[in-house]
Amino acid sequence: MATAKDSTKDKTTAAAAKKTARASGSKSPAASVETRQKRAQAVAAKSTNRKAAQAAAQDSKSLSDLFEHALGDIYYAEKKIYKSLPKMIKAADHPDLVAALTSHREETAGQIEKLEAIFELLGKRAKAEKCEAIDGILEEGESLLEDFGASVAADAAIIFSCQAIEHYEITRYGSMRAFAEALGLDEARQHIEDILAQETAADTQLTELAEDSVNAAATDYDEDEGAAA
Ligand SMILES: [Fe+2]
Ligand SMILES: [Fe+2]
Repeated sequence: MATAKDSTKDKTTAAAAKKTARASGSKSPAASVETRQKRAQAVAAKSTNRKAAQAAAQDSKSLSDLFEHALGDIYYAEKKIYKSLPKMIKAADHPDLVAALTSHREETAGQIEKLEAIFELLGKRAKAEKCEAIDGILEEGESLLEDFGASVAADAAIIFSCQAIEHYEITRYGSMRAFAEALGLDEARQHIEDILAQETAADTQLTELAEDSVNAAATDYDEDEGAAA
């Protein structure tokens, strides 16, 4: 017959066994390896799922998505260029350079409107996509102005920066024209061709200005310095 003493002893023994099981469970190297393996598997599964989701999203992308991306990208660039030009115009000295940059800034305003018209043709809201390439070109232009803005080579430095901008635009619009052509977006292609013609003309004008007068004027200081030496 079980006594009260026996029952207390049983409870004590069961509690001790539980404690031992808990202790051995948390400290067993095999169990902890298993836990780590399970965690690693879970992380790997998550990563695989994420990669699969990314791959699936990319699988559904096409040339029209790339065209839309390029449109947002150049829309961002044109707006930033429009904002940056006044500083260059202010720093420019040669009247033909001031006139060329001023007129190209007006053209840029029209280009922004043309890009908005293309968004509309696509049935999309105009949305700028941050473009690090143009940010870098414009930042370099700013730092060149700091270094050369007060020098005899200021105009040459401004043309140097502006031609980097024009060439960036020409390459983007060149690709976009081909995309629009392939996608059968005739009206959009026409807008892009109009803009591309303006960018190419601006670039040619800057080359002529540099070669016909600005570069030669920028060598004056060196000659004077040489004569004084
Ligand atoms: Fe432009
Ligand atoms: Fe331009």
